[in-house]
Amino acid sequence: MSDPQTVLVTGGAGFIGSHTCVELLEHGYEVFVVDNYSNSSPAAPARVEKVAGRPLLSVYEADVRDRQALSAIFAENPVDAVIHFAGRKAVGESVWIPVDY
Ligand SMILES: NC(=O)c1ccc[n+]([C@@H]2O[C@H](COP(=O)([O-])OP(=O)(O)OC[C@H]3O[C@@H](n4cnc5c(N)ncnc54)[C@H](O)[C@@H]3O)[C@@H](O)[C@H]2O)c1
Repeated sequence: MSDPQTVLVTGGAGFIGSHTCVELLEHGYEVFVVDNYSNSSPAAPARVEKVAGRPLLSVYEADVRDRQALSAIFAENPVDAVIHFAGRKAVGESVWIPVDY
């Protein structure tokens, strides 16, 4: 890879997102995260950096449904790609509160 590519990982503090961040960092990508921590810990991104041995560009606590917040984040960062993991995933819960899904 000649120039580092910048990847936004939504839900980057979650299970799959955090592992994806580690892989991206280990492969030379610049990575930043947007997560509202509704199903994860704010401590997760620091653990990602420790495992990968490299810092994330930035970590934003924001809801991906918040258009204003996302517009500001996109304005602040060059984004080559987005990997979208921010979402709810419990099948049973999706029946009880479908609008949240
Ligand atoms: N875990 C699996 O085995 C698996 C398999 C196939 C697909 N998936 C899908 O991959 C995605 C991620 O799964 P996961 O297991 O990492 O889940 P997870 O709950 O661990 O991670 C999701 C992350 O997104 C965040 N989030 C949720 N809603 C948000 C919102 N509105 N704005 C910002 N952040 C938000 C949560 O806080 C969490 O950190 C889901 O869409 C899931 O359906 C997961």
